[in-house]
Amino acid sequence: MSTTIRLPRPDDWHLHLRDGAMMRAVLPETARDFARAIIMPNLVPPVVTGAQAAAYRDRILEALPAGMVFEPLMTLYLTEDTDPDDLAAAHASGLITAVKLYPAGATTNSASGVRDFAKVRPVLDRMAEIGCPLCVHGEVTDPDVDIFDREAVFIDRVLDPIRRATPGLRVVMEHITTADGVAYVQSAESGLGATITTHHLIINRNHILVDGIKPHYYCLPVAKREDHRLALRKAATGGDARFFLGTDSAPHTDSNKLSACGCAGCFTAPNSLPILAQVFEEDGALDRLEGFVARHGAAFYGLPVNSGSITLSKSDPTPTPTHINTDDGPVTVFDPGFDLSWRVVR
Ligand code: DOR
Ligand code: ZN
Repeated sequence: MSTTIRLPRPDDWHLHLRDGAMMRAVLPETARDFARAIIMPNLVPPVVTGAQAAAYRDRILEALPAGMVFEPLMTLYLTEDTDPDDLAAAHASGLITAVKLYPAGATTNSASGVRDFAKVRPVLDRMAEIGCPLCVHGEVTDPDVDIFDREAVFIDRVLDPIRRATPGLRVVMEHITTADGVAYVQSAESGLGATITTHHLIINRNHILVDGIKPHYYCLPVAKREDHRLALRKAATGGDARFFLGTDSAPHTDSNKLSACGCAGCFTAPNSLPILAQVFEEDGALDRLEGFVARHGAAFYGLPVNSGSITLSKSDPTPTPTHINTDDGPVTVFDPGFDLSWRVVR
């Protein structure tokens, strides 16, 4: 027997598309299922100006296979030298949808990120004034803070002070990984949302470290203990509109993952929706999948829900695809640890 569900075309509110050969290979994996995505600006060099964002958007649209419809929602990478006028012009023209804050050193290509948060105060004030949301990688990088505590400490030391100093700023806590992140978002009266990735609903830190190290499960923020994963699942499947999907699908070639100093990132674009359907079904919340993948994020960003639709159908479980090929080398697809019962009908 097969069951089907129909949803408005989903959005991915946090996506790494990269550039060049890698972008050409991974873009169709997202555009096939998602109508829009917030495109992360952590290229080398990063996308820091409006002109760079426009050029990057053009490259994405050029790489989009004929017949696919997809809207990249561009972001600027916040640095201590960001020009508020350039940012405001890029936002006013509709070129950018948000600005991304990386604490310097927090993750892949974040060396140009912010060290001294006081220095970006005027830019944040301007963003509040013009209604441009800030997407935040919420981890401190102080070497004395344990990597598993970095999100919780960031909330206390950085995020809450920023939000108090600039109360009108709309903030998305990206890829939350802790019960502390969930609680902080729930405690805010307005102007705060959070993305949750596919993989953080599936793995905890044991998946990375028990029975041999699993580099393909290593991402940042790193997966935490099981009670945090359960808090994320409850937030994602609970119907609260402050939580929405941001896959953080972050492709790296296998040679860059399977290394003595491997890159952080899980590549979930190809199988996110089937995995999420399974998660929501298991949690008795299949009727709330639509909110999480297609409605809550649009509402937060003040954008319309997409007009097209996709259909998911349930039948016999099949193994997840293992990898995709790129001209830079193979990229392993996130393995949820179970066969997929749901698939997107094409
Ligand atoms: O795991 C991650 N990979 N987390 C990030 O924040 C960045 C991303 C990447 O760009 O590879
Ligand atoms: Zn990311």
